[in-house]
Amino acid sequence: MAVEAAQAPHAAPVASARPLIHPAWVRVAHWINVVAVLLMMMSGWEIYNASPLFPFRFPRDVTLGGWLAGALAWHFAAMWLFVVNGFVYVALGFATGRFRRKFVPIRPGELVGDVKAALTGRLAHDDLAVYNAIQKLLYVGVILAGIVIVLSGLSIWKPVQLQTLTALFGGYEAARYVHFAAMSAIAGFVVIHTVMAFVVPKSLRAMITGR
Ligand code: HEM
Repeated sequence: MAVEAAQAPHAAPVASARPLIHPAWVRVAHWINVVAVLLMMMSGWEIYNASPLFPFRFPRDVTLGGWLAGALAWHFAAMWLFVVNGFVYVALGFATGRFRRKFVPIRPGELVGDVKAALTGRLAHDDLAVYNAIQKLLYVGVILAGIVIVLSGLSIWKPVQLQTLTALFGGYEAARYVHFAAMSAIAGFVVIHTVMAFVVPKSLRAMITGR
């Protein structure tokens, strides 16, 4: 049937017959976010190296900025990209109903079932338009981690002007640990998420072309 439609003289191209999975605003925001997260993470590691919280430093090969002041400049520049882009994505996510349609509900029973299926290699990815419970949890989780990392970052940046916010995190030092924990959560997400994108290449194609 699809072949007949493709061969009909005035048929629409086959590609446009495929349903739109990710509208342009999701794709643009997603790929801008990838660049912003990469810049923020690499410059953040250089900033961390100047005053480590734990007994290790990040290898210089994966850091950005060259030294503390350079890394801070990169971190604050990329911060605008991350925050403005993230704000637009979250606002449109609510306004268009995408978050309601795609990310909820997350039912514990479905989550347990999907984790079992994933562990035994039986988790289906037939319909890219519908996220499974693990994807929903990870996407909602990473968006929340994004909000926490921005708020804890603001607390570290302006601890005097934003002292109420800083106090909510338990003070300046605690806000640094929260910021690091949120970074670790996002880094962990990115690793799993990127592996999955290449394990299911059609999902990557959909995030590029929309279909
Ligand atoms: C090179 C790195 C990345 C690749 C290749 C990638 C790829 C993808 C793909 C293929 C999807 C669609 C998933 C599906 O249909 O099952 C997706 C969705 C998503 N990605 Fe990424 N991603 C990357 C980095 C990131 C980063 C850094 C973040 C956030 C920190 C992120 C957050 C998300 C979110 C929240 C969604 C769901 C979007 C929505 O449906 O509104 N991704 N990504």
